[in-house]
Amino acid sequence: MKLNKQEVVQALKTITAPGAGENLIDSKAVTNIMVFADEIDIDVRLTNPSLQARKKLEVTIMEVLHEKVHSKAKIKINTKVETPAPAAPIKGQPIAGIDSIIAISSGKGGVGKSTVTVNLAVTLAQMGCKVGILDADIYGPSIPTMLDLEGKRPLSVNVDGKSKMAPVENYGVKVLSIGFFTQPNQAVVWRGPMAAKALNQMIFDADWGNLDFLLIDLPPGTGDIHLSIVQSLPLNGAVVVSTPQNVALADAKKGIAMFTQANIDVPVLGIIENMAYFTPEELPDNKYYIFGKQGAENLAADKNVPFLGALPLVQSVREAADVGRPAALQEATPIQQSFTEVTQNLVTQLLKRNTTLPPTKAVAITNMVGCAAVK
Ligand SMILES: Nc1ncnc2c1ncn2[C@@H]1O[C@H](COP(=O)(O)OP(=O)(O)OP(=O)(O)O)[C@@H](O)[C@H]1O
Ligand SMILES: [Mg+2]
Repeated sequence: MKLNKQEVVQALKTITAPGAGENLIDSKAVTNIMVFADEIDIDVRLTNPSLQARKKLEVTIMEVLHEKVHSKAKIKINTKVETPAPAAPIKGQPIAGIDSIIAISSGKGGVGKSTVTVNLAVTLAQMGCKVGILDADIYGPSIPTMLDLEGKRPLSVNVDGKSKMAPVENYGVKVLSIGFFTQPNQAVVWRGPMAAKALNQMIFDADWGNLDFLLIDLPPGTGDIHLSIVQSLPLNGAVVVSTPQNVALADAKKGIAMFTQANIDVPVLGIIENMAYFTPEELPDNKYYIFGKQGAENLAADKNVPFLGALPLVQSVREAADVGRPAALQEATPIQQSFTEVTQNLVTQLLKRNTTLPPTKAVAITNMVGCAAVK
């Protein structure tokens, strides 16, 4: 029996490579062919086939070669299975297990970013969503206090042979904070790239499990350090928190500009007006516009950014933050209602973005089973 290698090549060209849409030769799935006397040796390289697909391909190769080359040829198939290397994370692209990463920011400090972050998070958790918070405030991490997790330390867990940080959890919200890794009262001096690296590790080297939302509480400001952080994190969208006051609005504008600049290009999902008006506990129908009226709402209209809602300045919000039990957990209260509305608007905007953004920037929203925020 004399076998011809060229005939083998022609025969293999009639078989489609699994998942490639091309034949075994053109798709380079066959990496080597050797023909000796009555034997044909073929090396095949496949990326992630199912066991069934692999067996089926081997049987097809045997049949085709017996039919087209020689019915008595001895055929050896050496199949190598390759797992594709995980792609490097790209800004705006979903990460395995985390559907959407949203940054909560403000230009000015003290306007209520962290308060808004924890209340959004517990509201989403109450709605049945899987939520995490990454406290990225390198200047003054306050999430552990606001969620009664002060002094906690994330444990190291083994995931598929790799050791990862396990976030700590309260009220159904998983948390990692830069505050867990620094001594209390210790001033930490960070450079932008260093902070960005530490935060990236808290996303990629942490065992978040499946999350519908990861909220990132950013430090106040729009300086170099923020650019560095925002540029390196794989954000799907940003929320800007502002009070109605002019000085806060001016900084909020800078915040919007930062996210929309070409080399960052993170969609601003909307503006939340915090401390929009003061309502005394004993006069719940009275509203006092102590920081000015509708400033953030007007800014949203001006910048053509969605307005996600107004949150009142009420004592219970501050007290709740101080004792570590967010006000949005206070059942059937007006403040809980306000947070629910803002949360719902945020999720609506997030989903809306998907219809206007290219698929690479769209948010996964795949496994939100039981997450009532998604209607
Ligand atoms: N709607 C509100 N009603 C009452 N108090 C509020 C409200 N929002 C925030 N606060 C209080 O205002 C203070 C500042 O809020 P918070 O720490 O959330 O601001 P921040 O923007 O995260 O500040 P920083 O820039 O320092 O990170 C806190 O004491 C908080 O409890
Ligand atoms: Mg804060």
